[in-house]
Amino acid sequence: MANKEEKNVNFNTESLEKEPINFAEGIYWVGYSDENRGLHCNPYLISEGDEAVLIDGGNRDDFSTVMLKILRTGLQPSQINRLIYQHYDPDLCGSLPQLEAIINNDALRIISHKENNVFIHYYSAKTEKLDFRELDNRFEFKTGRRLEFYPIPYCHHPGSFVTYDVKTKTLFTSDLFGSFDTRWKLTLDLDESCRECNDLDKCPLSSNKCPLSGIVKFHQRIMTSNRALENTLNIVEKLDIDRIAPQHGSIIASKEDVNAIIRLLRKVKNVGIDYFLSEEYI
Ligand SMILES: [Fe+2]
Ligand SMILES: [Fe+2]
Repeated sequence: MANKEEKNVNFNTESLEKEPINFAEGIYWVGYSDENRGLHCNPYLISEGDEAVLIDGGNRDDFSTVMLKILRTGLQPSQINRLIYQHYDPDLCGSLPQLEAIINNDALRIISHKENNVFIHYYSAKTEKLDFRELDNRFEFKTGRRLEFYPIPYCHHPGSFVTYDVKTKTLFTSDLFGSFDTRWKLTLDLDESCRECNDLDKCPLSSNKCPLSGIVKFHQRIMTSNRALENTLNIVEKLDIDRIAPQHGSIIASKEDVNAIIRLLRKVKNVGIDYFLSEEYI
């Protein structure tokens, strides 16, 4: 298996286009960069022993890029025995039929939430869909490595949830902690003054490329309400997190940055319906 364990590194464009990036033990970013989009998608592969799990597998048109990167980890697609879908949008579920075809493994199961499974069914009815709550909120690899699932209702769908890898203290969050691609890098690495920033309109670094504004805008537009976001942040804050791996934007790669972004999101006004009713939007 390829060994590309690297942290907080600005990877060159060529390696990001073609290579899986191993950023924690057994965890690979298998996403893609497209300069023409306002969004960036980040499927993740967890490889453990002779098994693997794919989280938020990606959209239909970029399937070949994701699969190329999976193959370049040295894994056989048939070793993937779980597809985790943390909600049901097409940017993470669109390639389900292609994945099922190439994985071609009778033991394959989808792990999601009952509220999501109703809609995931419309991408494909083929693979059995499980509700994580009936799995005691966890999945264990044969080695004992454990993934834990925590519901985050209405951030942004009723059945949305996050996945916590106990071994590496990595939290996979789907759209939560996502960002519009104002300034995409694989990993976010905040300046100390950005961590303490109280007014994104008055940059302490006098920069016109704020690394936080895309995160704020994303949550105002994609999350449903301040109430739902606050409830979710209360759940997330109880976990011991070393890094956050969202489905859009950058990997938040340190405890300090995770805590800074949580503080920032607690201060964001006009989330969801209040954003669309606000003067800012109108
Ligand atoms: Fe979504
Ligand atoms: Fe998304």
